[in-house]
Amino acid sequence: MRKKVLAANWKMNLSLTEAKDLYVQFDSSLPKFENLTYYVFSPSIFLHELSSNKGSIILGAQNFFPADKGAFTGEISTSHLLDAQVSSVLIGHSERRMYFSESNEFLKQKVDSAIQHGFQVVFCCGESLETRDKNEQLSFVKNQLEASLFHLSASEFLTCAIAYEPIWAIGTGRTANEEQIEEMHHSIRSWISEKYNSEVAESTSLLYGGSCNGKNAKSIFSCPNVDGGLIGGASLTFEGFNEIAREL
Ligand code: PGA
Repeated sequence: MRKKVLAANWKMNLSLTEAKDLYVQFDSSLPKFENLTYYVFSPSIFLHELSSNKGSIILGAQNFFPADKGAFTGEISTSHLLDAQVSSVLIGHSERRMYFSESNEFLKQKVDSAIQHGFQVVFCCGESLETRDKNEQLSFVKNQLEASLFHLSASEFLTCAIAYEPIWAIGTGRTANEEQIEEMHHSIRSWISEKYNSEVAESTSLLYGGSCNGKNAKSIFSCPNVDGGLIGGASLTFEGFNEIAREL
C-alpha cells in the first residue's frame, strides 16, 4: 500500500523559537491517520535543537554535501546530519538546482551518499514554464529521474519518495491543474514500473508541490496518483499546514 506523506519545507524561514514551537505543535496537534507520515525539512542550524523534541515527525535536512568530512568550507556533511539525528534529506529541489547550480550528476552523488548513510530521500523534480510551454515536461522530468535516481537498486529506490514540483507553481500562487498533475504523476509511476516493476511503482509515494494550500489541497489530493504534498509557504503556520493535512 502507498504511504501518504505530508512534508513541510520551511526553506530559509522562521526563528529558532518559532521553529521549535511549530514543530512541537505539528507533532501534538496535526491529524494522525494510519499510513500518514509527516516530514519537516528545517533550516540546518535548527536540526539539533528540533531533534531533542522528536516525536512522530520525521526530521529532515534541506541540504547537505555528499561527503563524510573534508575541506568543504561552509558545507554540512552526512555525519553532521546523523549527529543531529536527522533521518531524511530533500534532494533536487528546484531552488538548489537553480541558485546553487546543482546538476543532475551532482544530485546523483547526493542520492548515493544519502542512501549509503540510511537517510530517507525525498527527491524533487519538475519543469520550468518554458519547458511546459514547449510541451516537453514529460521527457524533461523523465530525464531528471533517469539521471539522478533510476540507477538505484529496487530496495534502495524503495526508501525514496518523489515530489513533482513544477517550477512555475512554486511560491507563485499558481498551481498546476488536476489534469496536469495527474498526467505527470501517472507518467512517473509508469516509468518506475518500467524501470523496476509494478510492485515498486505501487509502493512509491508521489507528492505534489507548488502553491498547495488549504483551498486547493482537496482537488490536488483527489488525483489518483498523488500520495501527498511537499508544502512551502503554507507550512510556515500550524493553521496552513493543518488545513492541508485535513484534506489528505
Ligand atoms: P510553495 O513551495 O508551497 O511555497 O509553493 C513548495 C516547495 O518549494 O517545496
